[in-house]
This record gives sequence, C-alpha cells and structure tokens, in this order.
Amino acid sequence: VHKGNGVKGLVDTGLETVPEPYIQPLEERLDPTKFQPENFIPIIDVSNWDDPKVVDSICDAASKWGFFQIVNHGVPLEVLENLKSAAHSFFQLPSEERKKYLKENSPSEAVCLCTSFSPQAEKVLEWKDFLRLSWVSEDQASAFWPPVCKEEALEYVKKVELVTKRLLEALLKRLGVKEIDKTTEYKLMASPILSLNYYPCCPSPELTAGVGRHSDVSTITILLQDDTGGLYVRGTSEDSWIHVPHVTGALVINIGDVLQIMSNDKYKSIEHRAIASRSKNRVSIPFFVNPGSDATIGPLPEVLASGETPIYKHVVFSDYFKHFFSKGHDGKKTVEFAK
Ligand code: SIN
Ligand code: FE2
Repeated sequence: VHKGNGVKGLVDTGLETVPEPYIQPLEERLDPTKFQPENFIPIIDVSNWDDPKVVDSICDAASKWGFFQIVNHGVPLEVLENLKSAAHSFFQLPSEERKKYLKENSPSEAVCLCTSFSPQAEKVLEWKDFLRLSWVSEDQASAFWPPVCKEEALEYVKKVELVTKRLLEALLKRLGVKEIDKTTEYKLMASPILSLNYYPCCPSPELTAGVGRHSDVSTITILLQDDTGGLYVRGTSEDSWIHVPHVTGALVINIGDVLQIMSNDKYKSIEHRAIASRSKNRVSIPFFVNPGSDATIGPLPEVLASGETPIYKHVVFSDYFKHFFSKGHDGKKTVEFAK
C-alpha cells in the first residue's frame, strides 16, 4: 500500500479493483437483504429548544433509538455547506501538502491526517481517510489547522458548540440534573474533536467497510453528512440495518458510550457503520463531544439517587479511549471495558 497517501492516494493511482488489505471477510460486509425501512430515525425540529415537547422528543429518541436528526438548530446552511466544501478542498490538495499533517510530520496535537481507523490494530483496513482537528483552543486551531479548511472549521465549531450545550441540557434534565456545573461540563464536553472524513470512490464498496460496526466512545456525536448516503444504524430485528437518509440542513445526533454509561443505560449508544460510494467521494464530518481526557466517567449520582444498581464502574476517559483504539472496529464491545 501507498505509505502516507491513504486511500485517496491509492484511488488516485487509478485502480479498478479493491486491493486485498481492504477486502472484508463475508461476515463484516453489509448485507442489503438485511436493510430495514428508513423512516425509523426521528427528525426533530428544535427551533424552540425550551419547548418541553422538544426536550421530550430528544430524550425519547435518545432512549429508544440512540440516533436522531435535528433541523432548525441554528447553524446556518451556508456554514454547513462551506465546511463540506472545505473537507473536499483539503483532500484535493497535492499529496505532498496533505502529508504535512501526517502524525509524524504534524506540527501539533491539534491536527492529524489519518487513514482507516487504527491500522496497526486492524486485520482489514477501512476505506476512509480523515483529518482529525482537536479543539484545544482557538489559538491552537488558528495556528495549526490547515489554511485550506481552518476558517470553515472554526466557524462551524463555534456554532455547533451552542447546539451541543442545548442538547446536553435537554438530555441531562431527564436524568435529574438541573444545572450543568463546571465538573459535569468537564465530564461531558471538555475535549471535542472535529473529524473531516473522506471516503474516496470505491470500485467495489460492497467488499469493503468505510467504517466498520462500532459505537462511538463520545458523550454525543453531532454528524454532518453529505447527500451521498451510506450511514447505517443497527435496526430492530436480528442483524438488520437502517439507512440514515441525508436531510438538507440537518445534523445527525447520536448518543455515545460515555452518555450511555453516565445515564446507566437510560440512553443508548447504538452500533453504526458507513460505506463508501462507487461514484462519489463521500464526506462526513462528526463533531465528537468528548470528556476531558483525565475525567472519571461513571453513572451519575442523580441517576442512582433512587437506589438503582450501577451497571458500570468508574473509568478514566483516556483509558477508555485508548482501549477503543487498541482494537479494530468490533461492534459494541468497548462499553464492556467499563463493567
Ligand atoms: C462514523 O461513525 O465514524 C462515521 C459515520 C459516517 O461517516 O457517516
Ligand atoms: Fe461513529
């Protein structure tokens, strides 16, 4: 494989078949006979965050599906479109320019160009490259994020942080947390990461995984996807999958493991996966709302107040995060680490 050029570099060589290291075993390929209809995932209009009905819809969706979309969330369409274009622009840079952001060359922890998921730990590689932009501070971002996408990413992060706060307020209210104090805020959202995911066109996407089955380790994830399609969420019957359709202007929200743990299973962190397209370069842009790395995560005292048994022990977030990256995507097993 082409060292440091990622899947994009591979595709640029003009290949017509999927190279062996990317071919998934049968059991990890997405089976179209197992698809369920799309209309399961709720679309919630959040134009009025303070409306108790909106709060209820959010919390119900988080307990029942773990996935939902929001519209009228306050991030202007233009900001969303600009960010998607900026992601394409980054990956269209000459490979020598992109390579400046590889881990071994990157000037800062605030930016890293990666391929697959955790290449040293995976049996089969995933059909995806991504630029990880860690939100350390505005100064760090301004100094080190690539000029070709910096402004667009900064603009989006600032806007999406407000959405994050509103969502967490709503979700925690149902758990009996009246106000999010500084300690809780640190546990919920101190170290966000914006990832510009790039899934180049694939000659035989059905043989590959763009992203294999996993649940996110985040508190919540806010995902901006383009209109290519390809995101699937675990369905209601045995081994079924539900497509998450593109809705113009919407953000896809999913509950991550941290909030499942903190809520003692009231909210569900659901398995999902993504697949590349044969004809389009797909971009998707998750904003992972992560705890501070040294934060200790466990069921919230408010949740246990009525005497229910904690399902999880307390874990340090950085240990949980490391465990996730120490293996390939293997479904929903990471949460066992906290049991
Ligand atoms: C992911 O879950 O890691 C990516 C989802 C997507 O690309 O739609
Ligand atoms: Fe994910």
